[in-house]
Amino acid sequence: MKFFIATYGCQMNKYDSNVIRDYMGMRDHTESYTIDDADIIFVNGCSVREHAEKRAIGFVNSMKSQIKKNARIYIIGCLATALKEYPKHINGLIGTTHYDRISDIINMNGFVDMRDTEGEGNYTNARIRNNVSLFISIMKGCNNFCSYCIVPYLRGKEISFSPDSIFKQIESSINTKTGEILLLGQNVNSYNYRGKRFPELLIEIANIFKNYRIRFLTSHPKDFNELLIRIIADKENIMNSVHLPFQSGSDKILKMMHRGYLQTDYLKKINMLKQIIKDVAITTDVMTGFPFETEHDFNETMKVILEVRFDDAFMYKFSKRNYSLAGFMNDADENIKLRRLKHLIKIQNSIKIEKMATLKGKTVKVLIERKSKKSENDCIGRDEGDRMIVIKGLFDIGTVIKAEVIEIKGNTPIAIKKEE
Ligand code: SAM
Ligand code: SF4
Ligand code: F3S
Repeated sequence: MKFFIATYGCQMNKYDSNVIRDYMGMRDHTESYTIDDADIIFVNGCSVREHAEKRAIGFVNSMKSQIKKNARIYIIGCLATALKEYPKHINGLIGTTHYDRISDIINMNGFVDMRDTEGEGNYTNARIRNNVSLFISIMKGCNNFCSYCIVPYLRGKEISFSPDSIFKQIESSINTKTGEILLLGQNVNSYNYRGKRFPELLIEIANIFKNYRIRFLTSHPKDFNELLIRIIADKENIMNSVHLPFQSGSDKILKMMHRGYLQTDYLKKINMLKQIIKDVAITTDVMTGFPFETEHDFNETMKVILEVRFDDAFMYKFSKRNYSLAGFMNDADENIKLRRLKHLIKIQNSIKIEKMATLKGKTVKVLIERKSKKSENDCIGRDEGDRMIVIKGLFDIGTVIKAEVIEIKGNTPIAIKKEE
């Protein structure tokens, strides 16, 4: 049978879609890249914000006229578990812990409802066939229960996978295009497999796979520590870029969010990062309009933005979520949330542009990802700070090229290969 997958949401959902590709491929199902000739359609949706849910549901509702008469549609992933009501023309809802049985599930008669979060959810037997950047999940679930977040209710309790199974999955998934390994977990710093913690695992992976770039997502500020910073600084192939979501700069809001740190704790860790790792690129997640956020609280967020000068930020307005504690609180005024978000985006984007401008004249090491869509004589890659760079000329996908940034066009650095 032919299957089609539409993927929404974070890297974890992208990893899961690759897991499904492998389990479907094992039973000789082939992937279709167009929806009209697919027999099975998976919509792997995200539920972290209302907007993400609406996009995926909109897609499910829009596909009716384009698909084969007997095509079966399954909403899967976080979205499946979150939904209380769903489009009536779908054939089932499959949560994140049953993908190893996916090819049996699609043969079940009647409506399928498999949304419990208790399953193992360890898919390290699957071979992942990503291009260039290999996404590998080292753990499932989340035990943090930040008060705004639905993820712990959708992905269940935290389980760390065995180092051996992680190494095996990386080995069996690496191909000639692989240049980078991205280790995934909702909070990688709380990885704990029979006493083995994340720093130890990270060193082992960096040593075994020393010819590959190593990155990891996401770190939680409460558990991010000096040991990890020193490992990033010492290991050549661990990239000097850290994603450290701060969410809010206000101590009152941080307490209400159950984040486990205050503004000064966060800033101390950022200062340590900047001191120990030369040229570290720091990115973050931040939101506006959490319930009871005042202008003063928002100004505290802006203070952190101005002081840290993040290389990039994912910026959101608070979205009320089912199950989560903040979902029961009085929501702030939409216009206020939006006004604050717009201001935040404006200031952060100008910081990003200023920081990008400082790259001009610098030498960067670019991992080539693909040909440019705009110019067939150029390639697109990423530097060590995970910034997208256009590099003049054609190079093999998956190789690392030393290049000099000659100009910044819009927001994108343009570089030329540096002769050795
Ligand atoms: N576990 C990761 C972490 O803690 O950073 C990722 C969590 S979530 C998938 C990614 C980001 O979405 C969060 O860092 C947060 O900024 C944002 N987010 C989560 N719940 C939200 C909500 N209810 N409204 C708005 N943004 C939200
Ligand atoms: Fe959600 Fe917090 Fe867990 Fe991240 S750490 S997934 S924001 S509960
Ligand atoms: Fe990811 Fe969305 Fe689930 S952000 S963890 S796919 S709710």
